[in-house]
Amino acid sequence: MRYVVGLDIGTSGLKGILVNENGDIVSSAVAEYDLYTPQKGYSEQDPDDWVKAAKSVLKEIAASTEDAAENIEAISFSGQMHSLVLLDENDVVLRKAILWNDVRTTRQCRMIEEKLGDQLIDITKNKALEGFTLPKLLWVKEHEPRIWEKVAGFLLPKDYVGFKLTGSKQMEYSDAAGTSLLDVENRKWSTEILDAFDISPEICPKLVKSQDKIGTLSQELAEKLNLSKDVEVFSGGADNACAALGAGIIHPHQAMASIGTSGVFLAFEPSDSKDYQGHVHYFNHVIPGQFYSMGVTLAAGNSLSWYKKTFAPETSYETLLEKIDNIDPGSNGLLFAPYITGERTPYTDSEIRGTFIGMDINHTRDHFTRSVLEGITFSLRDSYELMKEFSGKSFKEIVSVGGGSKNVEWLQMQADIFNAPVTTLKAEQGPALGAAMIAAVGARWFTDFSDCADRFVQYKKAVIPNLDNVERYNELYNIYREIYPSIKPISHKLAKF
Ligand code: XUL
Repeated sequence: MRYVVGLDIGTSGLKGILVNENGDIVSSAVAEYDLYTPQKGYSEQDPDDWVKAAKSVLKEIAASTEDAAENIEAISFSGQMHSLVLLDENDVVLRKAILWNDVRTTRQCRMIEEKLGDQLIDITKNKALEGFTLPKLLWVKEHEPRIWEKVAGFLLPKDYVGFKLTGSKQMEYSDAAGTSLLDVENRKWSTEILDAFDISPEICPKLVKSQDKIGTLSQELAEKLNLSKDVEVFSGGADNACAALGAGIIHPHQAMASIGTSGVFLAFEPSDSKDYQGHVHYFNHVIPGQFYSMGVTLAAGNSLSWYKKTFAPETSYETLLEKIDNIDPGSNGLLFAPYITGERTPYTDSEIRGTFIGMDINHTRDHFTRSVLEGITFSLRDSYELMKEFSGKSFKEIVSVGGGSKNVEWLQMQADIFNAPVTTLKAEQGPALGAAMIAAVGARWFTDFSDCADRFVQYKKAVIPNLDNVERYNELYNIYREIYPSIKPISHKLAKF
């Protein structure tokens, strides 16, 4: 049997999967690493920890199955987006990587907006957000001039790991799109933006496609890992693009609703898509020449875990969610807004905080639990509404992944709130599967991604919307939308306490 490996460089750890020609997940392995928070709002990692984790996961995977070591043909990557790795002229890492969830760069974001005005969205298709890479580069330039002087190049996490495994340095489009330095439509580094901030184009790596071969495993490494030295390495993609590919989001009529710590509502965008003016993210897909749009709810699963930890620490999720089907849609007038860590889409507001509204003496814990799930789902619908408004989208199918796909009631709720059939994956593997699919297409097992998805991605039966609930939720959603503008002034005043 022939195999490919998908490696996903996440924020808490690196996950690898071994996949055979039939698309079966034969084995998987995870290695965790540290996250450093030297100050409030800072979030950093040591890039070499990712590399160590990649090697240990590869070793474990190669040993996991009898014929794997000699039959792994290709490897590819998925990676946390935006996180900045700075290299000197000898390709030595200059400081810890500043991660996507580090929020020290608000001032740099305002500077970018002031300097570039409309050009920013015209070129990069996205707003300047604290998590993105350019604000991080500007922060280092301003606060760590002695490091900045030595900067000869920068990479993103999966590209750094790819470099350390093969010796070849590059950046791939779906990830480069999250740097705020890429001309997203024309797929080239933006000289306008680089010039505006006096950043040398020399530090920008060569751009490549996701399924471009970046090399083979170095002989020394292949020997250490007990692998054939001919293992081909392909560049891979940004984690959200890989998650979309792994969920089969390769057609315009499909969207993905992902509920992890944060929540993502993501849609495939063919090359002639409309302009979202930065209201949702718009990035290059891993599928050549295509794009995807995406809205982010900062605290999706995180709202539920906060709620459980705070109000039902001794109760299992199963017990907590078991009775929500006894509660009517709308939780008898109780609404929850999930802004407990601020919000990204549609409001981009780091000071807003969450709320329960409509609490009544008759409400029970089950009402609160249901309203938390409804609030999270309404917040994802906000992104869907932006897609409708700016490009007239409607979806024949929404693929639910992550925590939201594990509970039947929540799936029905999503079908009712999105008013679309909601399906789930038979074998959900997250972005690692997208990475393995890139390896499989790169290794020419398939002619294209669609061909690969036919074999690798399988769905369960869809949950169909209940039309009475759809109507009720439409009414409630309109009320939910009134919450943000109503609580904003109060929430901002409270922020200083
Ligand atoms: C996307 C984003 C996150 C990271 C997490 O814009 O910031 O989804 O990619 O890994």
